[in-house]
Amino acid sequence: MALVELKQKLHPFELIMGLHGLLRWPAMTRKEMRILKRVFLSFPKNQTINIFEYGMGFSTLYFAKFLQNMGRSFHIDSLDNNRFWYEKVTAMIRNEKLSDSVTLHLREFAPFWEKSGWNWQAPQMHGTFAPSMPEENEYIVLPQTLHKHYNVIFVDARFRRRCLETALQAVDHRGIVILHDAQKKQYQSSTELYRHSRFIDSGKYFPFARKQYQIWLGSPTNTLVEEIAREFA
Ligand SMILES: C[S@@+](CC[C@H](N)C(=O)[O-])C[C@H]1O[C@@H](n2cnc3c(N)ncnc32)[C@H](O)[C@@H]1O
Repeated sequence: MALVELKQKLHPFELIMGLHGLLRWPAMTRKEMRILKRVFLSFPKNQTINIFEYGMGFSTLYFAKFLQNMGRSFHIDSLDNNRFWYEKVTAMIRNEKLSDSVTLHLREFAPFWEKSGWNWQAPQMHGTFAPSMPEENEYIVLPQTLHKHYNVIFVDARFRRRCLETALQAVDHRGIVILHDAQKKQYQSSTELYRHSRFIDSGKYFPFARKQYQIWLGSPTNTLVEEIAREFA
């Protein structure tokens, strides 16, 4: 293995992600896991919780098992653009016999950083990097295409600013939309479309880490967004 590759693998974030993978934990901080559980459990016990997730991973399995263990009725539609993760999560969901409660969707396309001209130092969400292929546009509008009123929509992957626009159309009026990595300025303009809107400092991946994460909660009419933000302040 080249020295650069070895250094990348030994980077604390990569190590922590490796640990999360071994434990089959989502790619999020512990506080973020608690916030998502709090949102899910806020819905009445006798109600089926309909969830849409942009960006599948261990989160899909982790929260499905959590809701099953809590005795809740739920259904998750989870979407990805990457065949490797789609197939990995499909196998995990099948092995855990959760296929009746979780439907996985694939709209396959390359991520922006694989497009020519991408520059990590000067991220550009417009022009060449804006969605243009049919699969990219289908990905963004999928929750609307499925014609459900979701109680929770979790935005954690590609084209987040655009996905937040779709989410507002596809979420139930009492439903809650969650944005991961909400500290990134390029996602934030779409949060202004929501009447109830709160950013929450959601911690770090390890104690001496420099990077502080934020999660955002929004809803058309549910004031629980403000309540949860106060609880987790
Ligand atoms: C931030 S990840 C989404 C992770 C997922 N919501 C979770 O918390 O486990 C964004 C994309 O990276 C890929 N991915 C999923 N889990 C990953 C992981 N543990 N490490 C690296 N990439 C992952 C998927 O293609 C996903 O759409």
